[in-house]
Amino acid sequence: MGVGHFPPPAKSARVSRPVTVPLIERFRERLPVSARTPVVSLGEGSTPLLAAPTLARAAGVRELWLKWEASNPTGSYKDRGMTVAVSKALELGAEAVLCASTGNTAASAAAYAARAGLPALVLTPEGAVAGAKLAQTRMLGATVLEVRGSFDDTLRAAQELAGRGTHVLVNSVNPDRREGQKTAVFEVVEELDGPPDAFVLPYGGGGNTSSYAQALAELGLSTPIVSVEATDRRRTLATAIRIGDPVHAGAVRDAGARVLAADDDALVAAWRALASEEGLFCEPSSAAGLAAVLRGDVEGDRVVVTITGHGLKDPAAADRHAAAPALVAPDADAIAAAGSAARGRTA
Ligand code: F0G
Repeated sequence: MGVGHFPPPAKSARVSRPVTVPLIERFRERLPVSARTPVVSLGEGSTPLLAAPTLARAAGVRELWLKWEASNPTGSYKDRGMTVAVSKALELGAEAVLCASTGNTAASAAAYAARAGLPALVLTPEGAVAGAKLAQTRMLGATVLEVRGSFDDTLRAAQELAGRGTHVLVNSVNPDRREGQKTAVFEVVEELDGPPDAFVLPYGGGGNTSSYAQALAELGLSTPIVSVEATDRRRTLATAIRIGDPVHAGAVRDAGARVLAADDDALVAAWRALASEEGLFCEPSSAAGLAAVLRGDVEGDRVVVTITGHGLKDPAAADRHAAAPALVAPDADAIAAAGSAARGRTA
């Protein structure tokens, strides 16, 4: 029985089919798990693949699909890898997990560790993580330490500590994490009944790019991957991908991914367009792939863009860029007038 799971329902219970399929069960034969692996799941994966017709027209792409990874339990794609990494850590007798993070790995590690009954130690670069991600991580019971330094300094320190054997490192340098993350490609290929013309995703450390490449290799496909990094890696407003020195740069190169850059203006424009045109609110970093597509930099009739994390992860960024509410009297005439004035401004 998996950790965090209730016993199977009694025969008499009126449950006709499993309610939620853990990612590990859906892709068991493609993952490094066995019957002995305790499945630590929060209902990750199986995320929506959404058509984006309005943005497809704007970009001049026949079919634009969005892999909405914000639907994962902690609000980002990290949960795909974390279910595998924490399940394997538990199987191998880990006593604690550790990560360095710009915020999303932190929340995911904290959640799966809590579910597994393991302590989590989370290191974040000082002052460079969205407040909601820190609150989420703290609420989930992790010990959070802010490190005086950049993400790159933080990851180096985490790797050194993990080398002492007291903690299992659950960053994407952990191969079990990448195994889990590759499943997004399996879902897309299954749902589209074949590969798209391109996969497009943000490029921070490159772990997700290397996972996608691994999935394509396993499927015997050579679909192009387009990985989009922040032009100013060390200072971008997209804190999730504020990484100076991507740890998987070599793997990204070896995978033959096409690396493009988007500056903050392009990121913000794509991020706002996704919200206002398609009704999807993501965090700024998640719009990196879309920025390249909207610029016309991605070829193909059928393009899949991965939207990696939810907008509620970074409300302060939204607050800075979205229209502020006007203050009105509790009066229908005043409200009607203010409403049409605001519509005029955004039309
Ligand atoms: N999108 C989001 C929302 C992220 O949080 C990250 C990375 C990326 C994209 C980049 O993915 O590193 O696999 O190329 N976040 C890490 C973290 C660094 O600590 O949460 P990548």
